[in-house]
Amino acid sequence: MRTAVYPGSFDPVTLGHLDIIERSARIVDELVVGVLNNNSKNPLFSVKERVNMLKEVTSHLSNVRIESFDGLLVDFAVRCHAAVVVRGLRAITDFEYELQMSQTNRIMCPDLDTIFLTTDLEYAYLSSSIVREVAHYGGDISAFVPEAIVERVLEKFVGENSFGGPENEQD
Ligand code: PNS
Repeated sequence: MRTAVYPGSFDPVTLGHLDIIERSARIVDELVVGVLNNNSKNPLFSVKERVNMLKEVTSHLSNVRIESFDGLLVDFAVRCHAAVVVRGLRAITDFEYELQMSQTNRIMCPDLDTIFLTTDLEYAYLSSSIVREVAHYGGDISAFVPEAIVERVLEKFVGENSFGGPENEQD
């Protein structure tokens, strides 16, 4: 049984994330989507909300399960009995950070390999932080996130005038 983990912040899940989940679920026997419980990033959605949204939008995929994790990705991968980490690569600008992360993880856990799927061109520009920014200004985000969560993202900004901006975000 080949298990892979697809880790991320998913704040919120985008159509780009969903595309990577669907494609990697076709490659491996079991895919565990790992939602980082990253309080330090001051996320828009709680980890529970992010997990629930991911569960909803992946409910058609029988070999995908959603979990949250704290701490190191390598420890989470070991707990999941995963030998592979999946990450999406949108552009060359992602590469340096992703390379650094995969090399570090491999030094800490030599049996853990990272595979990269190139993001569908349709979503090459897309990130959770872009979604948050458009939603903050009341824009139409239906081309960016699964239909089931559009309202939930927009609701977060009703009556708000502050937002966790896109600076230094990789997701
Ligand atoms: O969606 P993101 O924010 O780009 O995902 C980043 C993530 C969650 C993959 C990364 O921050 C991570 O693995 N964090 C867990 C802590 C860890 O293992 N750090 C060492 C890797 S260099």
